[in-house]
Amino acid sequence: MIKVSLISLGCAKNLVDSEIMVGHLHQAGMTVIPEADQADVVIVNTCSFIDSSKEESINHILEAHQHKGMRKRRPDQKLIVAGCMSQRFSKDLATSLHKEVDAFIGLDQVTQIAPIIREIFARDRGDEAPALFIEGRSTFIPDYDTPRFRLTPRHFAYVKIAEGCNHPCTFCIIPQIRGRHRSRTVASVVAEARQLVREGVREINLISQDTTFFGMDTWEQRPNSRTPVDSARGTALTTLLRELNAIEGDFWIRLLYTHPAHWSDELIRTIAECPKVARYIDIPLQHISDHMLGLMQRETSSAYIRDLIGRIRAGIPGIAIRTTFIVGFPGETESDVDELCAFIRETKFERLGVFRYSQEEGTRAAKMEEQIPKKTKEARWHRVMKLQQEIAAEVSHGFVGRTLKILVEEPGVARGEADAPDIDGRVYLPITVPVGDFVNVEITGYEDYDLLALPIGEEPSIRKIARQAQ
Ligand code: F3S
Repeated sequence: MIKVSLISLGCAKNLVDSEIMVGHLHQAGMTVIPEADQADVVIVNTCSFIDSSKEESINHILEAHQHKGMRKRRPDQKLIVAGCMSQRFSKDLATSLHKEVDAFIGLDQVTQIAPIIREIFARDRGDEAPALFIEGRSTFIPDYDTPRFRLTPRHFAYVKIAEGCNHPCTFCIIPQIRGRHRSRTVASVVAEARQLVREGVREINLISQDTTFFGMDTWEQRPNSRTPVDSARGTALTTLLRELNAIEGDFWIRLLYTHPAHWSDELIRTIAECPKVARYIDIPLQHISDHMLGLMQRETSSAYIRDLIGRIRAGIPGIAIRTTFIVGFPGETESDVDELCAFIRETKFERLGVFRYSQEEGTRAAKMEEQIPKKTKEARWHRVMKLQQEIAAEVSHGFVGRTLKILVEEPGVARGEADAPDIDGRVYLPITVPVGDFVNVEITGYEDYDLLALPIGEEPSIRKIARQAQ
């Protein structure tokens, strides 16, 4: 039996691709094991978002080749490179890494992984034989019955509702890698979600490059991006959320990667009316100054974003908003950064990530003049991060004394609705509740981005000791 080991890098979308590969390997009778040095085949599922992710991917490929710190790679062991970096650079990589790697596969080949493995075992590779590489545009989208083996803990799952992206953001390479936006049907996503809930999943994280564009690619005419949605009209996403909310069981539905351009009042109303949809939204804004939004081609304006955030806060009481900003984009001035800081200060995002702009080959922003020196980017990043740390402490402080429903991740560690897996904070509790259970707790304190909790009615021991001493 062929033993395969898989290293999954990059984002949750790539992780779903890894899960699909593992599902197909199992279906083909192959075994998937964690120990790379004992496998017959090692697959590295790569990321190519920014330079540091490419570097990380290359390091993992070389590490898999050499088995650093372990015995050297067996001569008969095969190495396959998959994922975004392979999709984008398969030809170049096949030249530069032809001795190390046996095959470079694209994003559309995740379902073909088993026959590809058989093919590379059947090929006789002399020293000079080229690595197998597969070119082609990314067009694949999974369905509810696509074989898949979940690599997340039992209690949460990622569900990819669409793939690809139609936005023209000048800093981003992903549309060139993952292709045009294509959505699954509502029925397909609902069928998958039903199955996941039956399997005991307590949190369904809906993902894609642009979750709010779900279903809109099937409209006859693409809506104008500045006024993208008839605000009162339901979209496929609102239908989807209402249908998911109607599935029986106790679970959360979490919306990740929502582009601001496609939000509507009906979406706000739908989230407010669907109690299973977490009071949390992830809405990458990237900047707030019109100068920057224009250069980034974000298809939104400062006034639009401010109005939208106001409508979301007013329409969904208790909502936690996560966003990301980029600092150091070409042409960014100190006054753009001042505007950004003022906006962050007044909006008080519950969760916020800041990226230093990365000049990515193949993007339009990479060719822009007025690239910002590294030192300036760094200083701006520190300025925004420092500000957000103060706001995060205020936000955490605001949770103290509140009762929260939390999902236990591991003994003594949980997450609330305001915390997405892998990116946000944690809730620590000094009692053992089975992993995957929901429990109601009282928040008694915080440490930076994390909250401290106790079962309802129980006092923190420090307060108890103080009382006993009186
Ligand atoms: Fe994700 Fe990296 Fe690809 S962020 S979409 S794995 S380039």
